[in-house]
Amino acid sequence: MSRGIEDIGNGVPGRPSDDSQMSAACWKGSDLDDSGRGWQISWPPDAVESLLQLCSIVDFQDPDALASGMTLSSLRSGSGSSHVSDHYVELAQMVAHVRTALITGLGFVVATGFPTNEVGYRHAAKSFALFSALVGSLRSQNAQGHLLGHVRDVGADIRDPKNRIYQTNRRQTFHTDSTDAVGLMCINTALEGGRSMLVSVEAVYEEFKRRRPELAAPLFSPIATDRRGEVPEGERPWFEIPVLSWFEQHLTVLYQRQYIDSAQRFPEAPPTSKTTVEALDLFDEIMNEPDMHFAMDFERGDMQFVHNHSLLHDRTEFVDHENPAQRRHLLRTWMSLPGDRPLPACFKQRYGTIEIGARGGIRTPGADLCLPIDPNGC
Ligand SMILES: [Fe+2]
Repeated sequence: MSRGIEDIGNGVPGRPSDDSQMSAACWKGSDLDDSGRGWQISWPPDAVESLLQLCSIVDFQDPDALASGMTLSSLRSGSGSSHVSDHYVELAQMVAHVRTALITGLGFVVATGFPTNEVGYRHAAKSFALFSALVGSLRSQNAQGHLLGHVRDVGADIRDPKNRIYQTNRRQTFHTDSTDAVGLMCINTALEGGRSMLVSVEAVYEEFKRRRPELAAPLFSPIATDRRGEVPEGERPWFEIPVLSWFEQHLTVLYQRQYIDSAQRFPEAPPTSKTTVEALDLFDEIMNEPDMHFAMDFERGDMQFVHNHSLLHDRTEFVDHENPAQRRHLLRTWMSLPGDRPLPACFKQRYGTIEIGARGGIRTPGADLCLPIDPNGC
């Protein structure tokens, strides 16, 4: 246990005793303003213009550059253009705003008003990918090495243990993705449903401790989570990382309940005890209480960025349009953030490395990175 962490009994860590202040990411959904104050930012036209200009000089066929971290200064010198330098100031402010919101702010932010209709799908998708790559280094999201994901209902059967829930129209459950931050850009909304929901792990844990402190210990113990067939070389088909870790003054969460349950299909995976199941059920129950989480609808062009270490996310079930061209379609990026919090060594099982700015994502043997602008792949 790190210095300064309070023990709440039975070896269960509490909060840093030398800093009793909650972090800015400790909030209840009922505390947030539906109108967007505090969590929305709108795209300044100059920042959009410079992003589009930069897209024209970036080679999207070179995914390694997008995955190794991009900076505005290196792109600006590559552009050979000086008259647009003022515009980059606004874009730089957008990048800084998003990073700050994720790392030390509420843990999320929504950038609204990107002119998707005006610029068209391909320019919008490239702009989102490039902006994400400026916020953090892009990470692979699946066994195919995709740096840009397409969240759509492709009729995947969730009973197949190789499928992931984002490929369906079903309600997910509150979970984290396997890197520092996740970005979504709305291309098309569903006919009905598909609301995005966020919840603060610090707020949930405070409530958990208040109700059942004696049940907290299993949340801090390693637990088997299914990799859903996306297994890095030399690793087992599941990993064992605690749901909660207090590390270097931060409460960090890594959680996907369905994949904890499905890890039990492996006879060698450590069984989850009755007490652990009870703790997970209470954790889920608190997250699902209406005053705890915050729900929002997306509009076309919205970009949402969420910190996976401090928040969990979910979406409601949705009904889609008849016309395939109108169906719900979100673009997704996974990012590793420069300046983010340190993570405990056990995260290497899932993140590959815990090196700040270069960690996380799905790594499988033989997969080359690619950035599929087209929903059907690279
Ligand atoms: Fe997710």
